[in-house]
Amino acid sequence: MAGNRTFTMIKPDATAAGNTGAIIQQIEKAGFRIVAMKKTALSAALAGKFYEVHKARPFYGELTAYMSSGTIVPMILEKDNAVEDFRKLIGATDPKKAEPGTIRALFAKSIDANAIHGSDSDENAEIEGNFFFSQFERF
Ligand code: RTP
Ligand code: MG
Repeated sequence: MAGNRTFTMIKPDATAAGNTGAIIQQIEKAGFRIVAMKKTALSAALAGKFYEVHKARPFYGELTAYMSSGTIVPMILEKDNAVEDFRKLIGATDPKKAEPGTIRALFAKSIDANAIHGSDSDENAEIEGNFFFSQFERF
């Protein structure tokens, strides 16, 4: 059964460009409820831990350097079928391939600076949400 929570992070390119508010508006307009949210930054070591599943991939070094290059806005979100519906809302990893109207089509600059993260499974949504938030920070 599909779960009702997912995890997202607005990435450094989008926070630096002043698109945080516009992206949150898209998320809420699409029917997601914000369960937890903060503005923070990752060290390279913590970014490496967050993206550990990609450790063997050729882009791992660039990805962790990029994700620790500025501020981020992590959030836990709630909606029926959250993981799948949120991946649809953000669009393809490469913004050139993202459907018009998706968050990456609207705000991403490149495949690296692609504005936003979305969990790829219920299991990872749980792990990633726990990485940033304790149960006392959720509403
Ligand atoms: P994310 O985890 O950030 O939501 O992105 P995603 O699921 O759409 O893509 P994923 O395969 O999990 O990759 C994580 C991030 O690594 C960068 N990437 N670069 N050069 C490349 O071929 C490549 N592939 C992935 C992207 O910035 C992607 O968001
Ligand atoms: Mg991913």
